[in-house]
Amino acid sequence: PAGGRKPRLNVLLAGPRGFCAGVDRAIKIVEEAIRRYGAPVYVRHEIVHNRFVVESLERQGAIFVEELDEVPDDAPVVFSAHGVPKSVPTEATRRNLFYLDATCPLVSKVHREAEQHFARGRHILLIGHAGHPEVVGTMGQLPEGTVTLVEDEEQARLVAVPADRPLAFITQTTLSVDDTAGIVAALRGRFPEMHAPAKEDICYATTNRQAAVKAIAQRVELMVVVGAPNSSNSLRLVEVAERAGCPKAVMVQRGRDLDLALTARLASVGITAGASAPEVLVEEVLARLAEHFDIAIEEVVVAEERITFKLPAGLQQA
Ligand code: F3S
Repeated sequence: PAGGRKPRLNVLLAGPRGFCAGVDRAIKIVEEAIRRYGAPVYVRHEIVHNRFVVESLERQGAIFVEELDEVPDDAPVVFSAHGVPKSVPTEATRRNLFYLDATCPLVSKVHREAEQHFARGRHILLIGHAGHPEVVGTMGQLPEGTVTLVEDEEQARLVAVPADRPLAFITQTTLSVDDTAGIVAALRGRFPEMHAPAKEDICYATTNRQAAVKAIAQRVELMVVVGAPNSSNSLRLVEVAERAGCPKAVMVQRGRDLDLALTARLASVGITAGASAPEVLVEEVLARLAEHFDIAIEEVVVAEERITFKLPAGLQQA
């Protein structure tokens, strides 16, 4: 405000936050497809769960659709980072469509685990959220009835499984690390012989972002999670912050969404971003806070991430 000094606000930035390697790759696949094949390039489902990303790709020439039947025969189509049921590439092949699969390699890894369990005659329990595209894609790797979804501990205690088959569990990649441990413990109590993933299905990016939020949760009065309401990993960051002792956590999609009534008398705010939220949106939040506060930024980094994923063979730059 003119004349007066702005109040001081300590801002703690969670590190890592924002884009993961799978999201980065998926966006590059769409951009590279447009560059190579020209617009329009169709994308089945939001490539990643972020409106800002979707709109900037639309401006470059991407057209987003929900189902394959909305894609004309002569246009390339990209499948989103969340993965797709087997029926989708099968149908694309039947129609002779040119498609590129932006499924995150860490989601594809879970798909392959599911297939291996199935090949060994195991019934599969998938821990995840009903209706999320990743869950739809993972369940769609195998025939109906061979995978049972388990959403929470209550369902873990009640789920009915075939009596005559060994069991295995797999999980969605973007779950709460703590909730999942509880669900697995409940399942193990009932099915001690159940096969587990060799290495966690919850991905490194999900795990690190939750750990980073926990590291700052008790040092701030408000946690701002930059992300989208349909982004599983972003929703989990809100929960993790509150459970780890932060008095309040809110999700914002853009800087302008931040309700300044919430920050009015605060001395400290934490900021993180879901795996599908670009850093420029974190910068928007910082800029908005800086209009009203004299901000001092401290970044708290709990893990270094160096992982990157190659583009599909056809798109790799020479
Ligand atoms: Fe992949 Fe994990 Fe990102 S599964 S898309 S690296 S949140």
